Formats: sequence, C-alpha cells, structure tokens
Amino acid sequence: MMNKMVRWGILATGGIARTFAADLKLLPDAKIIAVGSRTRESADRFADDFGIPLRFGSYEELATCPEVDAIYVATPHPFHKQNTLLCLNAGKAVLCEKPFAINAREAQVMVDIARSKKVFLMEAMWVRFTPLFQKVKEWLEDGLIGDIRYLQSDYGFLSDKGPKSRVFNLKLGGGALLDVGVYPVSLASYVFNKQPDVIKTCGYLGATGVDEQSSIIFEYDGSKTASIFSANTLETKKESIIFGTRGSIHIYGPWWQLQNVRVKIDGGDTIEEFPLQGKGYTHQAIEVMNCLRDGKLESGIMPLRETVAIMKTLDHIRAQWGLKYPME
Ligand SMILES: NC(=O)c1ccc[n+]([C@@H]2O[C@H](COP(=O)([O-])OP(=O)(O)OC[C@H]3O[C@@H](n4cnc5c(N)ncnc54)[C@H](OP(=O)(O)O)[C@@H]3O)[C@@H](O)[C@H]2O)c1
Repeated sequence: MMNKMVRWGILATGGIARTFAADLKLLPDAKIIAVGSRTRESADRFADDFGIPLRFGSYEELATCPEVDAIYVATPHPFHKQNTLLCLNAGKAVLCEKPFAINAREAQVMVDIARSKKVFLMEAMWVRFTPLFQKVKEWLEDGLIGDIRYLQSDYGFLSDKGPKSRVFNLKLGGGALLDVGVYPVSLASYVFNKQPDVIKTCGYLGATGVDEQSSIIFEYDGSKTASIFSANTLETKKESIIFGTRGSIHIYGPWWQLQNVRVKIDGGDTIEEFPLQGKGYTHQAIEVMNCLRDGKLESGIMPLRETVAIMKTLDHIRAQWGLKYPME
C-alpha cells in the first residue's frame, strides 16, 4: 500500500454515506471507486452524484470487487456486524460507522474475524481524529489541567423523524444512547483511559420502546466522575467540559462542528480554534489510509479493544433500563 492511492467502496447510500463521500473527495490520495446499495437505482443515483465509476445493486458485489481496498460501512447499526463480516471475509479493510455494533458480543465477533483474517478494521468514531480532539488528548497527557476529576458531556437533539425511522424504530437499533450517547461515552473512555467502575443511570423509554432521554453517572477510582446526557427528543448544548485540579477544557459544540475549545488554567482563559477539513470526516479517513500504508491492522487512536470495551459499557447502561433489541 506504500504511497498508493487508496480505493474506497461505500456500503449503503443513506445520509452519513453522502456526507462521508463528499469529504473523501477532498483527499488527493483517496478515490471512491465503487458504491453498493440494496438497489441498483440508489447505487446509480449516488454514483452519479459523486462521480463513482463502479456501482452495484448489492453489498456482496461491492465486497468482492477486486478494485476496492477499503470499505466504509454506513448502514443502521443492527447491520454493522453482518456487513462488516461480509467485507472482512472478502479481505477488505473496513471503516465501520458508530455505534460499532448493537452490543459487545457482536463487536467481539467482528474484531475476532478481522484479527484471524489479518484485515484492518476501525470504528468510525470520527471526532477522535479531529485536530481538536488530538490536541485535547495531548493536553490531558501533559497534565495541562492537573489531575482529571470530572467530565460533563451531552448530546441531545430533537428528531423530526417518525416512529419507523432508524432513530425510533427498535428493529433498526433506535434510541438515543447508541445513536448519539455513544459520543460522550466514548469521550469518557478517551479522557479517563478506562471504563467506569460504577454506572448509575436514569433512562426513559418512549412509545416505540427505545430510549428517548437518559442521564448517566460514571465513577472511576472512587473519586472521579463523568456526567453524561443523551436524548433524541430535546435539544441540549452538545458540549463537553473536562475539569482538572488546575483548570478546565471546554469543548464547544455541537459535536459536528468541533472546532473551538476554551482552556482555563491557573486563572488564565484562552480560546483556541482547530479548523476541520471538510465536515470533519476526512480525519478518520486519513487515519485509515495511514494505517493501511504502514501495514497496521488497527488504529492506535481508536483501538479495537477499546471499541469493544465501550460497547460493553453501553450494554451495562441498557441493561439497567431493560432495553433489549429484537436481534439480541
Ligand atoms: N458519524 C456520524 O456523524 C454519523 C451521523 C449519522 C449516522 N451515523 C451512523 O451511520 C449509520 C447510518 O446512519 P444514517 O443516518 O446514514 O442512516 P440512513 O440515512 O437511514 O441510511 C442508512 C442506509 O443503510 C442502508 N440500509 C440497509 N438496510 C437497511 C434497512 N433495513 N433499513 C434502512 N436502511 C438500510 C440503506 O442504504 P441502501 O438503500 O443504499 O442499501 C440506507 O440508505 C448509523 O449506524 C448511524 O449511527 C453516523
């Protein structure tokens, strides 16, 4: 793969697939060579919009296309495992949307197959790869705000989608936690470098049986906590603040525009800006391509063991609400 153009395939033609494809087109060393959809019409439409030469009316044809190096899986979460395994078994590197799977058991199967086949796999937790999140990690590791004691992070949005949409439909993995709560949960893992020892939650399920709102407290080492909120029925600030013994780091939202961060240390107060390339999805694609060129099978920024651990935390949270998906 050294110095080679990476030839991407896009699996599914929905909302985020379009956003990612537009960002991929900004990268000179990436080429979208193929798209696969459940229907040929949708594949054709997508391919025409993005100038993609190969289009397929099935995911199988995309997975086995010899011209493709890496596939981006952008189906609703209940299909991530099946679609990812299809690609891995065909020897294709995979970037799989968040949440990585429906539960930790599925996630572990995906990781085991990638490892046994020696094929690259990564969760598309795209915010981690942005310049802002990379800088925040550096600050935390350098002890800029002292000992990290508390994280406050939320992602609440007011959905205008109906009960059959993937946002509210149990069969499509609906619910705020897996859809958007995964961002603060993953941030807590990023900040504290571990999963919580104690999890306390208040979660509210709506008419379709999915979680529409929840507050979650994580405890670490008996003295550190994270407070997490997610919802799909109300707008919240979509911000995160990390508090340490010397100061705080305030990551301004919303999550899809992570560019500004306010740092208050030892009485000082500065705001720094970290521009995104495109809509911000380029950064994860660059990580995938760097890993492929370096012959790596996983990313050090979003390791597979951490992806599975985060899925386990999500499982523990859902268990407290009695929220089980039909495919589990
Ligand atoms: N990273 C982010 O910022 C971000 C943002 C939004 C969503 N996501 C994640 O990306 C995934 C897809 O979300 P989305 O908003 O793009 O969803 P979407 O607009 O509903 O698109 C999903 C696509 O998946 C395919 N699909 C396969 N089986 C399906 C089924 N039974 N029902 C519906 N669609 C099916 C369809 O593509 P074909 O018809 O072409 O087969 C469909 O267009 C979710 O896991 C979500 O959590 C990530």
